[in-house]
Amino acid sequence: MKPVLLKDDIYWVGAVDYNLRNFHRYSRSPQGSTYNAYIVKDQKNVLFDTVDEEYCDELLKRISEIMDPTEIDYIVCNHMEKDHAGSIERIVEVCRPEKIFCSAMGEKSMKAQFNTEGWPIQVVKDGERLNIGKRNITFLETRMLHWPDSMVSYLEEDKVLFSNDAFGQNVATSSRFVDEYDRTLLSHAMKDYYYNIILPYSPLVLKTVERIGKLGLQFDIIAPDHGLIFRTQDDIKFLFDTYVEMATQPYKLRAVIAFESLWGATKKMAYAVGDGLQSVGVPFTIIDAQENHCSMVMNELADSSALILGSSTRNNMPLVNMLGVIANVKGLKPKNLVGAAFGSYGWSGESPKMINDELVAMGVEVVAEPVKAYFGPNEAELKACFELGQKVGLALKEKVNA
Ligand SMILES: [Fe+2]
Ligand SMILES: [Fe+2]
Repeated sequence: MKPVLLKDDIYWVGAVDYNLRNFHRYSRSPQGSTYNAYIVKDQKNVLFDTVDEEYCDELLKRISEIMDPTEIDYIVCNHMEKDHAGSIERIVEVCRPEKIFCSAMGEKSMKAQFNTEGWPIQVVKDGERLNIGKRNITFLETRMLHWPDSMVSYLEEDKVLFSNDAFGQNVATSSRFVDEYDRTLLSHAMKDYYYNIILPYSPLVLKTVERIGKLGLQFDIIAPDHGLIFRTQDDIKFLFDTYVEMATQPYKLRAVIAFESLWGATKKMAYAVGDGLQSVGVPFTIIDAQENHCSMVMNELADSSALILGSSTRNNMPLVNMLGVIANVKGLKPKNLVGAAFGSYGWSGESPKMINDELVAMGVEVVAEPVKAYFGPNEAELKACFELGQKVGLALKEKVNA
C-alpha cells in the first residue's frame, strides 16, 4: 500500500496488521488493526508516532516514497506504548531527527524502555505550540486517556487532530477513511475498542470533549493511530456523539447473561434466566465463558445494562473462565448496570454468592438474590432462575424509563 494523502503535504504512512487477533492481551480483534503514523511536510518535516516493531520496514518504505527518511526533522511521540513506539529506536537511528517531542511522562517511559542516550528529546507542556513553517502544532495532554503519557497533536491551520489511541478502532482494511467503510461495522468496531480499552477513563473522555468545545477547536480530519480516519463533518459528528454516549453509559434495554458450566446444569439455568427476561420484554444475549474471549462480555455491555453471571462451583470457587470475565469487567469499570448471579453445585456451592459479592463490589445494582441449584436444575430451581430473569428485566425497564 502506498502512502495515503490526507491533505496537502499530510500523509498516512502507517501499517495494517491484518492478522492481529489479540490486541494488548485484553481484547479480541477479529478484524486485525492498524498502526497509523503520519508525516507532515513543511519547513520542518514531522513524523507523528511510529508503528509496532514488526512493521518498521513498512513504515520506512512508506516514508521513503515521500522523502528520504533522513529529511525528517521532528518526531512527535504522542504515546510510548509499544504499538506506537516499538520502532522508535530504529527510526531515530535512521532518521537522526533534530528533535523528538513528547510529554513529561512520555520522556520517563521512553527512557525506561529504550537506550535514549544522545536522543534530542524535548518535553512539551499541555497547550504548548510548535511552529514548523507554514503550520503550527498544539500539543494537548490527555493524561490517562489512556496512559499517563498520552497526548494528542493538533495541526492548527489544517484542522487535523492526530489523536493517538483516542477515537481508534481495531479495523484492518485497505480503506483508510471512515467514509469508505460501512457505518454499522464501524460503530461495532468503535464500541469494541472503547469498551475494552477506553471505558475506565470515561470521565476524562467527557472532560476532553468539553475542553475541545471550550477551546473552540474545529476539525477537518481526526486521525487516530488505530483504524480508520474521520474526514467528513458528518463522520466527525458521529464520532463525538458516539464517544459522549459511550462515556455517559445511559441505561439500555438489553441484558447479557454470561455463564460457565461444568456439566451443563448452569447452562440450563442461564437459558431459564433468559426466558424470564424475555417474558418481560427484555432482549438478551447468552455467552458461554468457556467458548468465548472474556472481551465478548464487554462488547455486549456496549449495548446492554444488565449483567447476569452464573458459574458452577469447583474447589469452592467459580470456574476459571468466569473468574476471568469478572476480573476483566471489574478492571474496565462499566457504570449503570443492574444484575444478579446464579449457578449449580454438587457439594459446596459457593459460586453464586461469590459472584453476587463481586457484582456488588464492581458497583452493579444487584436486584435479585443469587439462585443456586443442587445438581438439577429441578423445576423449582428453573422457576427461580426464570424469576431472577424477570426481576432483573423489570428493574432494568424501570431504569430505562426513569
Ligand atoms: Fe496505548
Ligand atoms: Fe495504541
